Amino acid sequence: MNFLNEAANRYPTAISFASGRPAESFFSLERWLSAVPLFIDHMARENGFSVALAEKRLAQYGPTAGIIEALIAEQLRIDERIECEPERIIVTAGCQEALSLLIPALCRAPGDVILARNPTYIGATGVADFAGIEIVPVEPLAGEDWAHTLTRLAQELRRAGKTPRGLYLTPEFDNPTGTVLSELERRSIIAGCAEHRIVVLEDNPYGMFRFEGAATPAMAALDDVGCVVYLATYSKTLCPAVRVGAAVVPKRLFGSVGEADRLLAELGERKSFVTVNTSQVTQAIVGGVLLKQQCSLGTVIEGPRLHYRRNRDALLRALDLAFGAGHEGVAWNRPEGGFFLSLSLPFEFGRDETAACAREQGVIVMPMTFFTLDETHRKEVRLAFSNTDEGEIEAGVARLARYVDTQSSLVQ
Ligand SMILES: Cc1ncc(COP(=O)(O)O)c(C=O)c1O
Repeated sequence: MNFLNEAANRYPTAISFASGRPAESFFSLERWLSAVPLFIDHMARENGFSVALAEKRLAQYGPTAGIIEALIAEQLRIDERIECEPERIIVTAGCQEALSLLIPALCRAPGDVILARNPTYIGATGVADFAGIEIVPVEPLAGEDWAHTLTRLAQELRRAGKTPRGLYLTPEFDNPTGTVLSELERRSIIAGCAEHRIVVLEDNPYGMFRFEGAATPAMAALDDVGCVVYLATYSKTLCPAVRVGAAVVPKRLFGSVGEADRLLAELGERKSFVTVNTSQVTQAIVGGVLLKQQCSLGTVIEGPRLHYRRNRDALLRALDLAFGAGHEGVAWNRPEGGFFLSLSLPFEFGRDETAACAREQGVIVMPMTFFTLDETHRKEVRLAFSNTDEGEIEAGVARLARYVDTQSSLVQ
């Protein structure tokens, strides 16, 4: 991120496809803040407090697990079709805190490792790195289903004295690739993880931003064995500044109520030494908006969803125009939602190429190697289309095409 910020500062007129930030034009802080009194009234009613006391309590330290779990549970039920009890939810400072609590909680013994797809979101792998926990890439071989992949890998790891404890995934509109795991794949992952007692960390910041096609059930909704911890966030549906997310622990972990309760308790204990509790002021913002919206964010995200869809369409049109014919080695996917698309190029694209592309053509893209766990995917880049507009996308892809043409002619 520092490297990309530096590039953006150094070439301020460059068009950037690097940042996967939500579109700022839809932030509505004043409106969201105006929902806070709704939450304070609700808190007063729920606890039998006066409104004045509820306001004081809001400004005080609060319960580690949070104060909006019931509203979150209802929103997950309506918007994501996930059934969970509020008691299974711990409200966190964004999904990032949930990851930094969960990954070390799962990997406590030497040799415990986390599995992740490759490439993967660096927020998850960064947590493991800093905790000294090994991250092992996992991807099925051609023709192999996920359950077999997980068995093969678990056996290999055990032979090396290692134990896979968790599998981090973004099944819906993955960051960085923009891809989706099918229901069949999700079920196969659950079967493999259940067999080898691997906890799935299902991260879903982009699931509500589907542009077309039928939604695939969340893994937490398919989980009949109790191996999926669901990670929610309001960073993309409202705004990142609230720093409100949640971890939802299943009622049973691999069939055991005790094991699930122990994990939940451990997360609470760890959190109490990290952030004590998630800011109650920003929980009140999220809670107030949820109350105002009858616990569904469908209408709140409609504007941004259409914006992201227009941008995705503009990006696909621009790519078709620039690379549609006669560009061997250039290919891209067509994401049905989310913020990201991955583009393959006929040459390697790393740090030097990012800098050269920004300097020579005025466009910044993100090398896929920033997300990889090994030396693969060296000829791919991630294009984020969330916090930009159609005009920039058109101009940016034309600039990128000029860089690709110049490089391809040098390579030949
Ligand atoms: C896959 C993924 N998970 C989590 C996050 C961060 O979530 P939060 O802002 O809730 O910490 C992001 C943000 O870019 C993301 O792409």
